[in-house]
Amino acid sequence: MPLFPVAVSMIWNQNRAECMPQIIILPHAEICPQGAVLEAESGESICDAALRAHVEIEHACDRACACTTCHVIVREGYDSLSDMDELEADLLDQAWGLEPDSRLSCQAKLGTQDLVVEIPRYSINHAKERS
Ligand code: FES
Repeated sequence: MPLFPVAVSMIWNQNRAECMPQIIILPHAEICPQGAVLEAESGESICDAALRAHVEIEHACDRACACTTCHVIVREGYDSLSDMDELEADLLDQAWGLEPDSRLSCQAKLGTQDLVVEIPRYSINHAKERS
């Protein structure tokens, strides 16, 4: 068997792994009961990657950083994400179940590291309906 295709395949897979991080979505009773493992691209937002894989994270403002419904908690890989700006930080303050590793999934862009992401039980919309 020629070695060249094997070597090319190994390099391709290595490069792919470096720029195609995975996102593990932890089970959520309504949105993703079994959990999911998604292929994503560096520079892509968590929300875009999830929606592409039919994990229907709420995104009431259509990813314009204006609603807070796309709140997620990043259990692993938080430091690899794009920086949070002031607008995102202000909106996050209104999120139900805010934690130190919370992000708005439409604003958090992937680096090269894999992520483990939890979708909170309630979005800000549900929290308002319950009060
Ligand atoms: S979809 Fe509205 S802030 Fe992310």
